[in-house]
Amino acid sequence: MTTILVTGGAGYIGSHTVIELINSGFRVIVVDNLVNASYDSISRVEYIVKKKVIFYEIDLRDSEKLSKVFDKYKIDAVIHFAGLKAVGESTKIPLEYFDNNVGGTISLLKVMKQHDVKNIVFSSSATVYGDATRFKDMIPIPEKCPTGPTNPYGHTKLVIEGIMRDIYASDNKWRIALLRYFNPIGAHQSGLIGEDPTGIPNNLLPFLAQVAIGRRQKLNVFGNDYDSHDGTPIRDYIHVVDLAKGHIAALSYLANLKPKEGICREWNLGTGKGSTVFDIYHSFCKAVGHDLPYEIVGRRSGDVLNLTACVTRANEELKWKAKLTVDDACRDLWNWTTKNPQGFATPHYHIADHL
Ligand code: NAD
Ligand code: WQD
Repeated sequence: MTTILVTGGAGYIGSHTVIELINSGFRVIVVDNLVNASYDSISRVEYIVKKKVIFYEIDLRDSEKLSKVFDKYKIDAVIHFAGLKAVGESTKIPLEYFDNNVGGTISLLKVMKQHDVKNIVFSSSATVYGDATRFKDMIPIPEKCPTGPTNPYGHTKLVIEGIMRDIYASDNKWRIALLRYFNPIGAHQSGLIGEDPTGIPNNLLPFLAQVAIGRRQKLNVFGNDYDSHDGTPIRDYIHVVDLAKGHIAALSYLANLKPKEGICREWNLGTGKGSTVFDIYHSFCKAVGHDLPYEIVGRRSGDVLNLTACVTRANEELKWKAKLTVDDACRDLWNWTTKNPQGFATPHYHIADHL
């Protein structure tokens, strides 16, 4: 049985990917320090897949402990989700972001090298492109678009991509998939796992969900003076379950390379379709069944007009395509939210009552 170590597997995208991995027949080992997740997500994944998930609460920067996990299991490949991801926070504490994201990755790669594990799928981000509208003909954004992140979080992703390219250049046996996610949204159809931000949500749909459930008064729409059909910015929103499946496709691509062949390559994971803030607002209101209060406020610093993926490379090479729609994601997010109004901390939660 192929064994996959999933760093950050208790988090939002990681937990959904663990389900797809187990359902595809992989053995999964999760390593997470729970800095931005709860062990409940793992328990609920176990409930969904009806299997025990091997879990270690370890900070990736603790190479000694991490090494012991590699000593104990014969790991075939790593999916590396672990990292801090809040753009605004990264501008306030950039050193912590570099230490955690870059430091954690270096520690992981060293341990992998020591154990001769050379297959890795890395969570990069569309944020590495920065503002692609500054170039002619780069929307939808192809992987060849020049990068230029505009915040420390994005810099950490680009630095890590660079480290991985250098490792591959030094040893062509490595097989490295750099997956650049666009905007992941939605939740598992069971309503048992989903995104559970701490504090005030930064992202559009988690914020809207909290408005709908009564935890926030209204949505602030950050500007309606952009060059789009309704004046609000355009993003490529992808259902988290489709995104999770993209990891299985990447693993299978790496595994099917010719013997002794290595690779380090970028793939965009998105839908290829752009939606504005109001498109998303209307779709989510439809899922909820009524309009939600909002107010147009000024632009948010750092926001760009359009981040829509060109997905030809992933469609053709990984044989993967996003299938679910924004409406599907809004329905699944609302299902998760109504079942878990306080996220994983919802009191008196009995999984069986919700099936
Ligand atoms: P998340 O915060 O829910 O998951 C990340 C997980 O990593 C958390 O469970 C956290 O506890 C763990 N973690 C962080 N630092 C760690 C460390 N040093 N050691 C061990 N565990 C650690 O985030 P997510 O949305 O699931 O994102 C997963 C990955 O995808 C991240 O690398 C993120 O940067 C990237 N990404 C996310 C988005 C998005 O919008 N959610 C978009 C593009 C890329
Ligand atoms: C989407 C749109 C906002 C909140 C971020 C990261 C990116 C990636 C995905 C990790 C924008 C508008 C939002 C609100 C609003 N993450 N908005 N009111 O900024 O596209 O991407 O998450 O890699 O790196 O930057 O996502 O959900 O924050 O914003 O009007 O309260 O919604 O202006 O147009 P973003 P988002």
